[in-house]
Amino acid sequence: MIFQSFLLLHLVGLVLFAGTTTADFVSFRQFWKQYALDAITAKPMLQTMIKFPLLMGLGMAAIILSGVGMMAMTHGVFGEQLWFRIKFAIVLLIILNNIIIGRRLVVSLKKKIADNANDAGEISRIKNNLRLFHYAQLVMFFAIILLSVFKFN
Ligand code: HEM
Repeated sequence: MIFQSFLLLHLVGLVLFAGTTTADFVSFRQFWKQYALDAITAKPMLQTMIKFPLLMGLGMAAIILSGVGMMAMTHGVFGEQLWFRIKFAIVLLIILNNIIIGRRLVVSLKKKIADNANDAGEISRIKNNLRLFHYAQLVMFFAIILLSVFKFN
């Protein structure tokens, strides 16, 4: 019963984190479309995404807490298995990619937009890197879910 509750929390966290990442990805695509038409009217769209990092943080906290809870209940037996070690490494990559690449890109984009900087080259670089960042996050998510369900060894 307690194990199932942890698994439930794990999956709720997964839905929150993966769902918000997808919403972030789709919202940025809309933002760039609008930005190409009119940079001034695109600006408030960034404001509508302001709560996404908080939701992602809550989702990841739920995933990690419940994951640690399940590990404790199974006496760390999964920790010995290859699929889990790969999964754990990818979880770390997702967190690092989020903090080091994603956040940094969004902060510099917001700064450029707030300054009304007319730096097309730099903004286009941020746009491409953000797209790659989202692709990487979604692919890593898929890999983790695949590993968690099939538990290849
Ligand atoms: C982005 C991060 C993560 C995602 C997307 C994810 C996804 C999943 C999914 C979909 C399952 C369900 C598998 C099933 O019921 O067949 C699962 C189970 C599990 N996860 Fe995670 N997980 C993540 C991170 C973690 C972390 C950080 C830990 C440990 C600290 C962890 C430990 C576990 C354990 C112990 C199970 C139960 C395995 C079982 O009994 O079948 N997970 N995870």
